[in-house]
Amino acid sequence: MDLGIRGRVALVGGASSGLGRATADRLAAEGCRLCIWARSSEALERTADELRERHGTEVIVVAADATDPSAAETVAKHALDGYGVVDIVILNAGGPPTADPAQTTPDGWALAFQLLSVTPIQLASRLLPGMRERGWGRVVSILTSGVRQPIPELVYSNAARSALMAWMKTTAHAVAGEGVTMNGVLPGRLSTPRIEFLDYERARRTGQTLEAVRAEQIAAIPVGRYGHPEELASFVAYVCSEPAAYQTGTFTAVDGGLIAGLP
Ligand SMILES: NC(=O)c1ccc[n+]([C@@H]2O[C@H](COP(=O)([O-])OP(=O)(O)OC[C@H]3O[C@@H](n4cnc5c(N)ncnc54)[C@H](OP(=O)(O)O)[C@@H]3O)[C@@H](O)[C@H]2O)c1
Repeated sequence: MDLGIRGRVALVGGASSGLGRATADRLAAEGCRLCIWARSSEALERTADELRERHGTEVIVVAADATDPSAAETVAKHALDGYGVVDIVILNAGGPPTADPAQTTPDGWALAFQLLSVTPIQLASRLLPGMRERGWGRVVSILTSGVRQPIPELVYSNAARSALMAWMKTTAHAVAGEGVTMNGVLPGRLSTPRIEFLDYERARRTGQTLEAVRAEQIAAIPVGRYGHPEELASFVAYVCSEPAAYQTGTFTAVDGGLIAGLP
């Protein structure tokens, strides 16, 4: 299927690893020009070189920390200075720390909300006027299955991403008539450094072996394995496409059936 996004400019967060990187790769394969961002410039430069080599596409990079209140403005300005427009924005960065849900702290909440709600909302809000003016735009957030089925040790993620989701649903309605769609993707457990870290943390906390933790996690996934980042990236690319113009305000799990309830 021709996704119809050749030449579009895509701004992808957390693009030096895992889900963000796979998404950047997929959008580059579809002919998008990229601006990628995360904290480490070296990792971004390495990723950019690989993407240019593999797809012959233009890639610019910007280093910023999504927990910093100035990150959204820095990133948006860099992308707009580089390309003049941003057509597609993928809201993604790292995850928050694990926590006992009965022992959260104000500092923990402030950090989680900046990382997972305020920065992505500010970034998308900065780019929406241009998309609305041009009558075309795609905003896609990478959320978590935890917004539907809370993950016990990830209370900051479950809650702060739910706020982003509520903002997206509300705003999707406001911009739907102007060619701009806003959708979310809910990953379950796809093999990335973040998931490796979380499995390791759980093993440490519970005294289980890493293998036992993985076996327990996989037992809860009907498909019977962790996902590959590319399996989420293909779906994200579709949601960014021309044929997906009628899909907005949706939140779709890519989780191998992990979420047990109705959508
Ligand atoms: N993998 C899954 O199955 C899964 C499931 C549910 C939710 N998620 C969520 O999806 C997002 C991506 O996860 P992933 O598995 O792809 O993780 P990952 O492989 O660890 O990649 C995280 C990416 O985000 C960047 N990043 C981390 N902290 C950042 C910050 N404060 N500001 C800006 N960039 C930051 C990292 O680069 P730097 O370290 O250089 O900044 C890296 O590029 C995370 O929010 C994660 O919690 C993932």
